[in-house]
Amino acid sequence: MRFDVVTIFPAMVQQAVGAGIVGRAIERKTLTVVVHDLRDFTTDRHRVVDDMPYGGGPGMVLKPEPLFRALDAIEALEQSRPTVLLTSPQGTLLTQPVVERLSRQPRLVLLCGRYEGVDERVRTRVDEEVSIGDYVLSGGELPALVIIDAVARLVPGVVGDEQSVAEDSFGRGLLDFPHYTRPAEIAAGTSSEPLRVPDVLLSGNHAEIRRWRKREALARTLARRPDLLEHGELDEEEQKLLRELKAQRG
Ligand code: ADE
Repeated sequence: MRFDVVTIFPAMVQQAVGAGIVGRAIERKTLTVVVHDLRDFTTDRHRVVDDMPYGGGPGMVLKPEPLFRALDAIEALEQSRPTVLLTSPQGTLLTQPVVERLSRQPRLVLLCGRYEGVDERVRTRVDEEVSIGDYVLSGGELPALVIIDAVARLVPGVVGDEQSVAEDSFGRGLLDFPHYTRPAEIAAGTSSEPLRVPDVLLSGNHAEIRRWRKREALARTLARRPDLLEHGELDEEEQKLLRELKAQRG
């Protein structure tokens, strides 16, 4: 999969995509991320990318021509037409189903907006605006990085363990179950009881462990994000566990 990012802060994006799972996938050539400096698509001596808003008011607006030239250059790079995304608080809210849909595209172009605005005419070249949440960031670089990370994890071969991706929190519309590693017991730091790993996880009984994890994932989702259960696809065992949990909660 290929991502082209258009930004006024190329170093910030380049640095971040080089780290971790995404960085390793780029090294292995499972992913390609090309970062484009919007200023390279200006034609004036001062490489100006923004201008004052028509009609007045505070803030600056990203000019349309450099973005159009960047898109022309990126679209000419390969034969297939890429899907063009614009980061914006007015966009489609990024959820796991949206991430899954985006991960099926072979090429994504991410135009990093500025909060003050992007000239409205740029939207004629955009397939979809994407928001990463109902809060305001000063620029689209962090949203672009969030989109790349979430989408890249679903590209086969990016995360080593496909099973872990499938079982992820939200992968199945539920929150994750609790995780523990060694030691089995640690001092709590006060005079209280030591902190122990739940016995079932030490039991070696894989059927019991699987059931415990399902129950914990459901209990957490019910307590913290009951909205997720409204359109979740639960199997029969999960539906039964959920009924039990609801009965316990009264
Ligand atoms: N630009 C500013 N805020 C944003 C947000 N929440 N999501 C995407 N782009 C943004």
